Amino acid sequence: MSINTHELARRRRDLMLKMSSSGVAIIPAASLTTRSRDTEYVFRQDSDFFYLTGFAEPEAMMVLAPEREEGEYIVFCQPKDAEKELWEGRREGPDGLVQNYGVDEAHAIDELEHMLPKLLQGRDRIYYPVGQNTGFDQRVTGWLNSAKAKVRSGITPPRELSDVTYLLHEMRLLKSESELTILAAAGELGARAHIRAMNKCKPGMYEYQLEAEILHEFASNGARSPAYTSIVGGGQNACILHYNANDQQLDDGDLVLIDAGCELAGYATDITRTFPVNGKFSEPQRELYALVLKAQEAALEKVKAGLRWNEPHDEAVRVITQGLVDLGLLAGEVDVLIEDEKYKDFYMHRIGHWLGMDVHDVGAYKIGGDWRVMEPGMVMTVEPGIYVNPENQNVAAKWRGIGIRIEDVVAVTEEGCRILTGDVPKAPDDIEALMAM
Ligand code: GLY
Ligand code: MN
Ligand code: MN
Repeated sequence: MSINTHELARRRRDLMLKMSSSGVAIIPAASLTTRSRDTEYVFRQDSDFFYLTGFAEPEAMMVLAPEREEGEYIVFCQPKDAEKELWEGRREGPDGLVQNYGVDEAHAIDELEHMLPKLLQGRDRIYYPVGQNTGFDQRVTGWLNSAKAKVRSGITPPRELSDVTYLLHEMRLLKSESELTILAAAGELGARAHIRAMNKCKPGMYEYQLEAEILHEFASNGARSPAYTSIVGGGQNACILHYNANDQQLDDGDLVLIDAGCELAGYATDITRTFPVNGKFSEPQRELYALVLKAQEAALEKVKAGLRWNEPHDEAVRVITQGLVDLGLLAGEVDVLIEDEKYKDFYMHRIGHWLGMDVHDVGAYKIGGDWRVMEPGMVMTVEPGIYVNPENQNVAAKWRGIGIRIEDVVAVTEEGCRILTGDVPKAPDDIEALMAM
């Protein structure tokens, strides 16, 4: 499963059409990062670079030079090297890039410093990811200065620097059919992993053992990496929003919150389920859980082309605030409690985020100061939660330390939204039935 070369070519063409035709785009690949002596973190390609190239090797650079006669699409990459490839793995090399990746012109990466100032000649604007990496910013300045040093030979250096991510990230925000297919597959696999965790969960297990079940399902189905560090929080650990120590024992009578999603073919998924460690919700757990589910259902009703980004969040806030009043965790007028943001003691994050190649994907949330209108092909999470601080003395003891989040990935459609992660149960009775099997 991957994005085909035609679609990659279409992306590059679309980007070039958005650029000035005498501009030039320069986008670097990711580098390897040391984890400890002689070992590196698993390599992950930079999302922008991968979006345009489909090329997964480190130490590379792509250049797009619209209307350049010798070729518009140039890539610098690691050269073929039998000795290095014996130790580190296969390389495509420049010829492989031309043959297999639709590259017009490819060079070894050590040609870059020499060739790049030439590629800038006669171009008025450089598009690159400004400010993402200070080392790269300095290199662009260096290439620009080399081009400027040649003005007396009649060469016109670029005069403007432009952040390519403004153009690119708007493109990435709207998913194509093939991207939606991969995101749906990632969602299905993510859902299977959560079902596995529900099936395996028993009191006395450690959080990391449930994490291992999740990772097993991902990896054995071709998703070698999670899209982010999995959160497995038993009991009050669920109230720590980014908990990932995952090293405590799961107690009988507690809930466990699992926020975990795989990365499949370069695309993320992001699912949270909260369920009882022993397979049966207690009464207070069930009441708060039902409220979070009601908030999620209400928010999902507000995901639809033509509605604005803030509408699902505002709807969830209203349902949660009303529910907290009904259950006695908050007291007062719902409108006033919302105005005073009293719900933030229990629900302190927003409803979700864009999702795609990055779990917190790119794309603006506001346009010209207003919340963005949703369009078909946008993909986002809907993830309300209620987290009752264990030290909260303003609520009855039975609520303290309960943390619940329910999170799904959805694709915006004209009619509403399509849930991509819906295979894992979330109704309390359905969770109990699954866990009883
Ligand atoms: N797992 C990250 C998030 O839910 O935003
Ligand atoms: Mn999320
Ligand atoms: Mn999540």
